[in-house]
Amino acid sequence: MKLLFAVIFLFYVTVLRSLTVSALSYFNVLDYGATGNGKTDDSEAFLKAWNDACAVIEDNPTLRVPFGKTYLLKPLKFQGPCKSKQVNFDLGGALMAPSKDEWPSDGEDKWVQFYNIDSLTVQGDGRFNGQGSSWWNKDCHNHCNRPTALFFHNCNGLRLSKMKHINSGKNHISINDCNNVVISDIHISAPEQSPNTDGIDISQSKNVLIQNSLIATGDDCIAINNGSSNINIVGITCGPGHGISIGSLGKDGDYNVVENIYVRNCHLKDTQNGVRIKTWEGGYGYARNITFEKIILENTKNPIIIDQYYSAFAYARKNMGREIKVSNVTYREVHGTSANENAIILNCSRARCTNIIMNNVNIRTSTPDTEAKSVCQNADGRAISVIPPVPCLSKSH
Ligand SMILES: *[C@@H]1O[C@H](CO)[C@@H](O)[C@H](O)[C@H]1NC(C)=O
Ligand SMILES: *[C@@H]1O[C@H](CO)[C@@H](O)[C@H](O)[C@H]1NC(C)=O
Ligand SMILES: *[C@@H]1O[C@H](CO)[C@@H](O)[C@H](O)[C@H]1NC(C)=O
Ligand SMILES: *[C@@H]1O[C@H](CO)[C@@H](O)[C@H](O)[C@H]1NC(C)=O
Repeated sequence: MKLLFAVIFLFYVTVLRSLTVSALSYFNVLDYGATGNGKTDDSEAFLKAWNDACAVIEDNPTLRVPFGKTYLLKPLKFQGPCKSKQVNFDLGGALMAPSKDEWPSDGEDKWVQFYNIDSLTVQGDGRFNGQGSSWWNKDCHNHCNRPTALFFHNCNGLRLSKMKHINSGKNHISINDCNNVVISDIHISAPEQSPNTDGIDISQSKNVLIQNSLIATGDDCIAINNGSSNINIVGITCGPGHGISIGSLGKDGDYNVVENIYVRNCHLKDTQNGVRIKTWEGGYGYARNITFEKIILENTKNPIIIDQYYSAFAYARKNMGREIKVSNVTYREVHGTSANENAIILNCSRARCTNIIMNNVNIRTSTPDTEAKSVCQNADGRAISVIPPVPCLSKSH
């Protein structure tokens, strides 16, 4: 009998201890007054829940957004640093942005922002709905500040996975000034004609991995901008959209640098570009050590393109002689079809593109009876089994 009690006692002690030790602290937005009815502004409730989650010292506080409801949120900013080493944002439900008519008139051009938060995990089967259609009409082009849907600034150790991102007014996700980021299994979707609705934009960030995601949008699926290095893009399906892009770099005569980019196992279908490097005239800096590998293209207008003539007449004239130097770019196992005759365009500046390596590239046109061609100026490097042939690269076998 004593033994039995001892065993039961021990059992309780062990189970209870393990429960308390692994217990996460949850901050459910419904407990903070969110309605989730899609009509009432739930921003205050989210911010209160966040402030509490961010202030606890326990391991892993989790802000919870329950499934099955739609939460209308005004533009808002989740601020760190938080007290605990890690914080979770568990998104079950749908977040909805105000439409343009309901948007606050304070000039804010970002919807949901995360600032200065280390080891933040944002995950769940929920969605971000930017209600972009109200921003997309043509007369809105220059005088309304279309908003970015989701903006991360200085979030080191960020993990973002599984949600759906639809119809942002402008770009869907911006990663700015972050180190060590993994984005996986997300789904971004906006119509082909929606203006400037980039999928993921990366700037001033290092050690970023974007993997296994589906991006269909009206502009670049992924754009890698100034100050980015060690960026890995793996297993992305893109289309419609403008492809995977380095840049644009050097706008307004700026100094811009991008290096160590590795894009592999990506599939692009019906996109305007496949893999692109684009730079403005008059800017300076470099784009170097960039590899595109195992890329499949289907009916892409510009499958492989380096365009250094993004025109900017004023700056081109003012900054005569300044260039963005493109070097060490490798295209390996790039296969598929081109919607345009020019399947490969290497339109490099006078600074020349150097060490451009093409190895096992085979692109045909998607129109019967048309031969794929290439355009090449100011580019040096090597081509090993490349169709269509690229005359300015030297051939090796
Ligand atoms: C581009 O990024 C580099 C490196 O982070 C930085 O030094 C430079 O100031 C940036 N350029 C602009 C125009 O912000
Ligand atoms: C080139 O980039 C890759 C990452 O894609 C990196 O592993 C490698 O060290 C870089 N090479 C140089 C010379 O920086
Ligand atoms: C560029 O390639 C050359 C020759 O392979 C190599 O020596 C150099 O380290 C590379 N630089 C970068 C930044 O990748
Ligand atoms: C290449 O750049 C030149 C400017 O030097 C431009 O006139 C031409 O249209 C470009 N070609 C392609 C195919 O983009």
